[in-house]
Amino acid sequence: MSDAQKNQSNRTPHVPSAEHERAEQGGANDQSIQKVHAILLREKPEPSEGFSPMPLFLLGLISAVIFVVSVYVVHYRGDFDPLVYDHRYDAVAAKAAASAPKELTPEQILASGKRLYQTCAACHQASGLGVSGVYPPLAASEWVTGSEERLIRVLLHGLNGPIQVKGNTYNGAMPAFGKVQGGGYNWSDEKVAHVLSYIRHEWGNNAAFITKEKVSDVLKANASRTKPWTQEELKPFE
Ligand code: HEC
Repeated sequence: MSDAQKNQSNRTPHVPSAEHERAEQGGANDQSIQKVHAILLREKPEPSEGFSPMPLFLLGLISAVIFVVSVYVVHYRGDFDPLVYDHRYDAVAAKAAASAPKELTPEQILASGKRLYQTCAACHQASGLGVSGVYPPLAASEWVTGSEERLIRVLLHGLNGPIQVKGNTYNGAMPAFGKVQGGGYNWSDEKVAHVLSYIRHEWGNNAAFITKEKVSDVLKANASRTKPWTQEELKPFE
């Protein structure tokens, strides 16, 4: 290869010679400048690694969305009650139902009465047959299945002195169970109603339930009473 040839190939075409550069600068006209600018404008900055700060606009948008959603949730949260999403749900009725006393079913009343009867069973026995000569029977007793007024009085204030049950005479002391002065048990009117409803339905007995309202009425009528009843005193309520 000749020297001239070597020179030729060493010269890369991208590196213009000094003369060439001068020639280009000299030949710069409006068109070529615009062209160069167009190329520069087209260029985007190189993508770089690392975090770039969140645009203020996006930050504002997200904050606004969070704010609006918070206001919405506070207004429509429905106390986070799952029933709120039931289309039949009536918030007013639900509140009234929640504050109203729950009505027990007859089964629940009898179950409650049965539990309470454990206290009575100490004397009257689980069989309701009592103890001959000492504790009178409740099964098939006319005191139990008869007058509500008399039965409630016996439970609230107790019973003393000789009494006849199913033709037999007893003479013991039946304690007072109601909320009365000197009573050791102080059962609520509801408890009294439950246990009485139970003994009127157990051992083949079949008399109507006794309501707590009825018990309350009888208790009010005897508010000043402090001692147990006698069979004589209860005659008017038979
Ligand atoms: C400490 C034992 C004792 C307990 C506890 C007791 N009783 Fe009596 N009960 C008696 C006695 C004694 C008599 C009879 C009273 C008399 O001779 O004057 C009686 C009488 C009765 C009578 C009227 C007579 C009859 O047999 O029908 C009823 C009703 C009665 N009790 C129900 C109950 C109920 C209900 C309970 C539980 C809540 C209860 N008793 C708890 C001792 C008890």
